[in-house]
Amino acid sequence: MSKKRILTGDRPTGKLHLGHYTGSLRNRVALQNTGEYDMYIMIADQQALTDNAKDPQKIINSVMEVTMDYLSVGLDPEKVNIFIQSQIPELTELTTYYLNLVSVARLQRNPTVKEEIKQKSFGGEGVPAGFFVYPVSQAADITAFKADLVPVGNDQKPMLEQAREVVRSFNHTYGDVLVEPEGMYPEGIEGRMPGIDGKAKMSKSLGNCIYLSDEEADVKKKIMSMFTDPNHLRVQDPGRVEGNPVFIYLEAFCRDEYFPEFLPEYQNLEELEDHYRRGGLGDVKVKKFLNNVMQAELGPIRARRKEWEQRIPDVLDILKEGSKVAQAKAAETLNDVKASMRINYFDSDQSDMYQK
Ligand code: TRP
Repeated sequence: MSKKRILTGDRPTGKLHLGHYTGSLRNRVALQNTGEYDMYIMIADQQALTDNAKDPQKIINSVMEVTMDYLSVGLDPEKVNIFIQSQIPELTELTTYYLNLVSVARLQRNPTVKEEIKQKSFGGEGVPAGFFVYPVSQAADITAFKADLVPVGNDQKPMLEQAREVVRSFNHTYGDVLVEPEGMYPEGIEGRMPGIDGKAKMSKSLGNCIYLSDEEADVKKKIMSMFTDPNHLRVQDPGRVEGNPVFIYLEAFCRDEYFPEFLPEYQNLEELEDHYRRGGLGDVKVKKFLNNVMQAELGPIRARRKEWEQRIPDVLDILKEGSKVAQAKAAETLNDVKASMRINYFDSDQSDMYQK
């Protein structure tokens, strides 16, 4: 049996942070290491340009940042294809055909697009048409590779739903060519990393992120300034663990092995949490522990990142090779698509092309 195919990706608009890591990067590395999947990881520069058209340099820089973040967390170009969206013109061609199968009203209902339009306040010129239709381009990204599985954050559910609708509509209209993808979503806190300020989401625009490439001192500074339980004023007060970002990060990153090394009075996170709830455990002590845990987790990632920063031509080569493989795959699908629409005019045996 052939391997199931996975396609996923990110918009390159900056460096990747802990939210990306727990919400998807860590899982991608695990999926890669099962060896059970044919994996494609796309850097969606065209999608990033839909709301950054005037600042392509930011996107170009971010393509490199994101790729180095991928490599640093352990995505291995020997095992996965990492590629750049804009280098696969077939995706744009597919988008054009799919756009005819999606109504403006349907696009207007997409909750993620709605939310983004609200947040981004596009100003005088309004919402760029390319931005408005990016869910259709994302359907092209997914279907071009006939992806079975799409591991993404929860905010991407509406995109998956639209992609599935495009597939059903296409297959219904032109014949069974496209594969209906399944989304794969993070469970529990993994997909909901709050910012260091306690806001629900880690996001660049809120300035509340810990980046994978942050220096040791910056990570420490950010952790020591983290929002905790606002009612935990004195050490002896009982504290809340639920919704407390310091404990959410610990739940996402702490392993029992860290206790003997960094906090030997406790055996595991449960004991630490119980003490915090009872009262008598200060925030500074927990934050210092969290800092040690995060430095242990991020140290190797940061070190690999520094190596890749010295090897930019190699990073570009990885992207070039990955894009070549991706393009060949997308070209196959585009051929199938055009054949099923019967717009493959010049292929052989088209004697019945003209039907009056
Ligand atoms: N929309 C995704 C994001 O904002 C990026 C993306 C583009 C993507 N095309 C994709 C993700 C295809 C999964 C599959 O992060």
